[in-house]
Amino acid sequence: MGEKPDIDIVVMDDTTREAAHELMRAQWGDRVVSLGRVVDPFDIPARVAMSGGVFAGVAAYLIEADELEVVALASTGAVSGVGRALMDEMVSVARQAGLRRVRLITTNDNLQAIGFYQIIGMTIARVGVNAMEEARKLKPEIPLTGNQGIPIRDEIEFEYLIEG
Ligand SMILES: CC(C)(COP(=O)(O)OP(=O)(O)OC[C@H]1O[C@@H](n2cnc3c(N)ncnc32)[C@H](O)[C@@H]1OP(=O)(O)O)[C@@H](O)C(=O)NCCC(=O)NCCS
Repeated sequence: MGEKPDIDIVVMDDTTREAAHELMRAQWGDRVVSLGRVVDPFDIPARVAMSGGVFAGVAAYLIEADELEVVALASTGAVSGVGRALMDEMVSVARQAGLRRVRLITTNDNLQAIGFYQIIGMTIARVGVNAMEEARKLKPEIPLTGNQGIPIRDEIEFEYLIEG
């Protein structure tokens, strides 16, 4: 999906777990609701981005059937190119496992993510209109409004199809 600057992507281990979990917790709290179920983002495989030996971001994922779902993706913002490098890695993991597609869910208020995923070559596969109403039954702490005061209402599913 593109070129990487000076960023290394490695499997999360004991030296990076705390920083990765802290970043995910700051973003999502203790659990993520995705596709009608609750996922514990601290108990699934993850890759981390390192830049100059410093933690710079994390991608946590699940493999189900022939798909890889990116459950959580976050960069510290200190270095640019981290999100792209982590998503490149997600595609590599999926390709090596012989999977058919990479997918993820974001919400309608996350304008940055909606822009970012399209810039790196993903496309919208589905919009779950008002899906956050159901999601709040599983995770009541999901706020009513998100970035820039936009009501958090819809689930947007992005995908990247693995060719071949
Ligand atoms: C979404 C997120 C992971 C992107 O990671 P990032 O490290 O900022 O992204 P990158 O630096 O790799 O950006 C990749 C490209 O997208 C562009 N980009 C990123 N955000 C953008 C935006 N809001 N609008 C326009 N372009 C954007 C960058 O300019 C870059 O383009 P380039 O490679 O042509 O220069 C990061 O912003 C983040 O952690 N957000 C908070 C958590 C979150 O919302 N996660 C996703 C939830 S589903």
